[in-house]
Amino acid sequence: MEERKGFKSNFGFLMAAIGSAVGLGNIWGFPYKMGKGGGFAFLLLYILLSMVCGLILMLSELSLGRRTGSNSVSAYNAVSKRFKWVGWLTPITATLILAFYSALGGYCVKYLVVNIGSLFGAEWGANGLDGATIFAELIGNQMESVIYGGVFLLITMLIVLGGVSGGIERFCSVGMPALFVMLLIVIARSCTLPGAVEGLKFMYAPNFEPLKEDFLGVLKTAGGQMFFSLSLSIGALITYGSYVDKKQNLVKNTVIIASAGAAVGLLAGMAVLPAAFALGAPEDAMKGPSLLFVTLQDVFEGMGRIGPVFGILFYGLVVLAAISSSVSLLEVPVAYFVDRNRKKGKSERRWLYALLTMVVSGILCTVTCADGLGGNGLWIPFQRFFAGAEKMPAFCESWLNLLDMISEGLLMPLCGICTCLMIGWEIKPEFVRAEVETSGDRFTVYGFYRFCVRYITPLIMLFILWGQIKDFFNI
Ligand code: TRP
Repeated sequence: MEERKGFKSNFGFLMAAIGSAVGLGNIWGFPYKMGKGGGFAFLLLYILLSMVCGLILMLSELSLGRRTGSNSVSAYNAVSKRFKWVGWLTPITATLILAFYSALGGYCVKYLVVNIGSLFGAEWGANGLDGATIFAELIGNQMESVIYGGVFLLITMLIVLGGVSGGIERFCSVGMPALFVMLLIVIARSCTLPGAVEGLKFMYAPNFEPLKEDFLGVLKTAGGQMFFSLSLSIGALITYGSYVDKKQNLVKNTVIIASAGAAVGLLAGMAVLPAAFALGAPEDAMKGPSLLFVTLQDVFEGMGRIGPVFGILFYGLVVLAAISSSVSLLEVPVAYFVDRNRKKGKSERRWLYALLTMVVSGILCTVTCADGLGGNGLWIPFQRFFAGAEKMPAFCESWLNLLDMISEGLLMPLCGICTCLMIGWEIKPEFVRAEVETSGDRFTVYGFYRFCVRYITPLIMLFILWGQIKDFFNI
């Protein structure tokens, strides 16, 4: 049997895991949600939820992976009778997320290309068009969107083909530090634009009004954000955990990964919002796709000749962040198949499974791109049922929303809740303690962990699940 290879160094593992966490969710969603949800007040809530939910689940997943030394499907299979089936949900969910994530990643690649074009004054640069026009043309042009989505998927596949240490670890070890440096440069420019302070105030100033008005709403937003941005509960961290050396301290690594995720979210806010406010963008222009693809593009265009340089830096870092996340999504199903072959004594055939997963995700990605955020009028399942309803549920508006609802809205929290129940009540928290302590470190916060994983974490996640269902179904 071939030897199962993992990460070469703990630094490499950290970069890969941080790369998985830091993605479109942090750079795009965090700044806006924090501003809307009460700034500093939202941040406190986010940190609190990370401690009682995020860290708990992340540590559980990493331990589950490292203890079983296997992919997510086999990990659940190996330890549980009741929750075996959850294992099967993980590669399915990952494949679904990968599909719409690639569509969005493709858009980011397009903007990177546009800014490179602008730098050289080429015809395929912005060419005097504003962000709104570029975006409308992109989503209206089905062929172009599909090609960009395909390019994004292809890059993801090529990295995963390189293997865990040769592909993922190598890419992230260079990519994540580069992302950080690019982010700092963009922050320096963004925060020195005239009027930038307003953006910082929007994001950071404590504002308890949103909490008073709709505490549960803010709690749900912060929870959902925390959950998605830490890449929890679809097997990505189980898979990465299975590649971690037994000598490494899992608790310490968990804290580092979660803190880095939150830090990049906070920094991204300093890069994105001051620029948007300097342009005088109304609040509407800051949510959803327009923030990234309309407002910011206009900011860069408005900077004159140097603009494309910052455009390249910014969209370059967004693409890096998105790719380092998508590789961890693709690795979930690939690891399952590769492990299965190795167990049978066959050769791994990583390329075959990366290709197969890419085809499945690629088909759904193609539909998402062709649908153009609902603008191109593609047929969407269930839409017909709501034809007469006052308000169409969000998931019927576009393929993006539909895939997002199934994967991020339902399957992710469901897997998370089941994982907590499994560890808290079936296989018992002792399992995680034993794994944490194999490195020779003492699990000093075990009491806290045990209490959270049994009661607090599943309850909060149940609440998040309920919130998502309400949102997607307009209840
Ligand atoms: N964390 C990623 C982001 O913030 C998205 C994501 C969610 C993800 N779940 C994941 C990435 C699982 C990899 C694996 O954009």
